[in-house]
Amino acid sequence: MTDNATDMPTNTLNNWENGRWIGQTLEVENGVCAVPSKIAPDNLEYTDEVKAATDHLYDEVSDFIPKFEWPAYAPLVHAINKLKKEKNAVILAHNYMTPDIFSLIGDYTGDSLGLAIEATKTDADIIVQGGVHFMAETSKILCPDKKILIPSLRAGCSLASSITGEDVKLIKQRYPGIPIVTYVNTSADVKAESDICCTSSNAVAVVEHICAERGVSQVIMLPDEFLAKNVARQTDIEVIAWHGRCEVHARFSAQDIRDMRAANPGVTVLAHPECPPEVVEESDFTGSTKAMSDYVENHKPKNVILLTECSMSDNVAMANPDVDFVRPCNLCPHMKRITLENIYTCLRDEKFEVKVSKRMAKKALRAVQDMIDLPPPGEKGHFDPKAKDVFVKVI
Ligand code: 13P
Ligand code: SF4
Repeated sequence: MTDNATDMPTNTLNNWENGRWIGQTLEVENGVCAVPSKIAPDNLEYTDEVKAATDHLYDEVSDFIPKFEWPAYAPLVHAINKLKKEKNAVILAHNYMTPDIFSLIGDYTGDSLGLAIEATKTDADIIVQGGVHFMAETSKILCPDKKILIPSLRAGCSLASSITGEDVKLIKQRYPGIPIVTYVNTSADVKAESDICCTSSNAVAVVEHICAERGVSQVIMLPDEFLAKNVARQTDIEVIAWHGRCEVHARFSAQDIRDMRAANPGVTVLAHPECPPEVVEESDFTGSTKAMSDYVENHKPKNVILLTECSMSDNVAMANPDVDFVRPCNLCPHMKRITLENIYTCLRDEKFEVKVSKRMAKKALRAVQDMIDLPPPGEKGHFDPKAKDVFVKVI
């Protein structure tokens, strides 16, 4: 099934210049990021009405969209904002969305946990998930009566596809009595088989909570091997891990950081906990996408490196013009499948609707809701880079 708004080319041309994002990402194939066709769906045009309604928005994205390209963006932004009003819809935009989506049409922005919480609060009839499929499923689990739309069915996640509900059933048979903590980056059937969910911002707090509640000192953390290993270093709980990896964060290495520090003396390095433990060890701070963004906001480092998905630096840089961003980054091909064009057609045609069977949603809701009901993680959301190494069994 095709999910592109129009028959746009999806290969070869590059919209990156000196490591800096300079145009709208349409599609990523085999790591190659292609430029948009500039042919808006429905022949949306840059009319006087569109100009008057959108001119004030340009400043927000002027670092990322050249002025001469604005007439290609503005009609889509205008049309999407009109459709949102007509249909009582909101867009939940993850921190990895490109700046046009994040700043111009996202109603709520944030990390996985923040977006899940926003889903429970909104009185919109339709939620468009500016993110990947597991995020849309989480919204559906939390809001079964709302219509949840995802602009691209190909916006998956290497972690979510590393494990199935059947795998979890087998793990439970093999390790009876050990609670299963499941990262939200999983499908609904995996969540349904779990004791509780966690995100990168509350993983340590969730592990300690479930063990205290069950009176045990061991936990199985699925499916991210590196997140599990990073959590294990921050707690006395024994962690057993699955062998899933984030294809974006697994690519950063400790040597990368040493090279970047040598090239940028004094730079502050922030990492996501899906990175390998040796990367966390070499970084100054590790936390969820929101924790990284808050760190920049609160500490205003002179120059900073965010070891995560590429759009994150673009979005945090917009809010922190006084901070200099060094931008080694890796693209998430799944996140980059969400575009202005397919958000427009998604809202216009109300496709693709994400559904979860009632029975499965009910089981998964318990695991997601128990996580949401916990108090905010506070300092437990940060990973101490100096924490001692511990052995983690990977199954
Ligand atoms: P956050 O929960 O930190 O937003 O992470 C989600 C994700 O997919 C990171 O790769
Ligand atoms: Fe999944 Fe990694 Fe992409 Fe996040 S960045 S959606 S964990 S593949």
